[in-house]
Amino acid sequence: MSFRELVRARRSIRKYSDRTVAREHLEMIVKAGQYAPSGGNNQSSHFLVFTNRDKICELNSIIRTEFSKMKPYEGMYKSMVNTVNNSRREDYDFSYGAPVLILVANKIGYSNAMADSVLCLENMLLQATDLGISSCYVNQVNWLRNDPSVLEYLYSCGLKEDERVYCSAVFGHSEMTSLPQLPRHGNEATFIE
Ligand SMILES: Cc1cc2nc3c(=O)[nH]c(=O)nc-3n(C[C@H](O)[C@H](O)[C@H](O)COP(=O)(O)O)c2cc1C
Repeated sequence: MSFRELVRARRSIRKYSDRTVAREHLEMIVKAGQYAPSGGNNQSSHFLVFTNRDKICELNSIIRTEFSKMKPYEGMYKSMVNTVNNSRREDYDFSYGAPVLILVANKIGYSNAMADSVLCLENMLLQATDLGISSCYVNQVNWLRNDPSVLEYLYSCGLKEDERVYCSAVFGHSEMTSLPQLPRHGNEATFIE
């Protein structure tokens, strides 16, 4: 696949089969993340790679509990309102049943934490696409990055005390046939000549 085809082929997939991601492929995905640029070549991103579905379900359960305590308010980000409302459902699963969840954490107070983390994640999404592995960016852990219950659980998974999660994505194989390219109408470009 050419790079042009690759960036158009990546789509957010929201339904996964139980099929695991081969370790070799997972390592290639992680490696792609490690090759992302970082501010001042800081390389302080930390990937928490969940490959155990039971662990993902435990995290989902905490996430669901915390969102279900919230009430949508005027001006709340639309996607967060959806998450708050959906968390009322017993079967709510922010991970869409995926066998792999990668959280990207970075240092508290580091001004490029979000930028560095997301660049790593985008590399991983594109590497996954190139390997025929589906993915979806998921924002719920980032939204609850300072939530005490989420933190307690993530510390037990290897998150360090001076880190917080800035972005995450799920990976796996999809029961859905691959989605068509999604046309882009936004992301305006102004050329200054
Ligand atoms: C910052 C960010 C947060 C996102 N959060 C979620 C999310 O929590 N759940 C979800 O299903 N998709 C999420 N997405 C995926 C977007 O909905 C998706 O990228 C967009 O609709 C375009 O579709 P495409 O990825 O198939 O091109 C997120 C994407 C970004 C960049």
